[in-house]
Amino acid sequence: MDRYAVIGNPISHSKSPAIHARFAAQTGQELTYEALLGPLDGFAGAVRAFRDAGGRGMNVTVPFKLEAFALAERHSARALAAGAVNTLAFDAEGIFGDNTDGAGLVRDLTHNLGCALAGRRILLLGAGGAARGTLLPLLGTQPASLTLANRTVARAEALVADFAERDASVPLDACGFADLAGRQFDVVINATAASLADEAPPLPAGLYAAGALAYDMMYGRGDTPFLAAARRDGAARLADGLGMLVEQAAESFQLWRGVRPDTAPVLAALRAQIG
Ligand code: ATR
Repeated sequence: MDRYAVIGNPISHSKSPAIHARFAAQTGQELTYEALLGPLDGFAGAVRAFRDAGGRGMNVTVPFKLEAFALAERHSARALAAGAVNTLAFDAEGIFGDNTDGAGLVRDLTHNLGCALAGRRILLLGAGGAARGTLLPLLGTQPASLTLANRTVARAEALVADFAERDASVPLDACGFADLAGRQFDVVINATAASLADEAPPLPAGLYAAGALAYDMMYGRGDTPFLAAARRDGAARLADGLGMLVEQAAESFQLWRGVRPDTAPVLAALRAQIG
């Protein structure tokens, strides 16, 4: 049986084994997928040991996505843009690194939520790894504009400067949260870690255009703090990141197995578990 795993620290909460088990059953692929607790000072060794024991690929989660990027010998364009790797594939040529997070987000927005991004004004909140990982795929949807807002403005400016040369056809700007006053957007995506502190980014009122969608990359039971604030501020539609989690997994599965699983029943089952 072909072996796959997700590696992170902590890892016991990971939903990836359950998601990939469902994908495998649904597509008739014979494989195993386990969760590995990566030692904080021994990520590369743990990856190599898994590969040497017959592993074919791995998903990589917090806090190892940058180390996975460094370990990979070849990278996809989207992994190079993200500067981080969440998917490793082992083949005769060595270790290939990909990043499926941004594609997962775009797929969830456009396919599951039916939210066309072309020609829309997108606001992306945050300038850390989560935001960086989604920028190239978001730009690829040809939005009318993409604005990156962050608590620390200099980080947003640095990130935009990195990407300005990659896709000049989409207006891309950086600002602080207060600078957003008086502006409106069609899609607002929270890629900050504020929810981990049970906080919402401090945004000015009136950001949501008519029919706008508020999307939080985090997920959980009920509204996240960001979604609760968006609801109060009049966002027409709200979505959390559970669909992104399932879609990034499907992108990884497709890379490894060459088959695209049907994500809808898997997402529905996970949603039912979360309540
Ligand atoms: P990740 O890989 O999850 O993106 P990160 O690189 O540590 O993690 O980045 C965290 C992001 O969340 C940053 O944009 C951070 O803002 P700063 O650059 O100003 O630190 C943002 N963030 C964290 N806590 C926040 C909060 N309470 N309110 C608003 N933004 C927050």
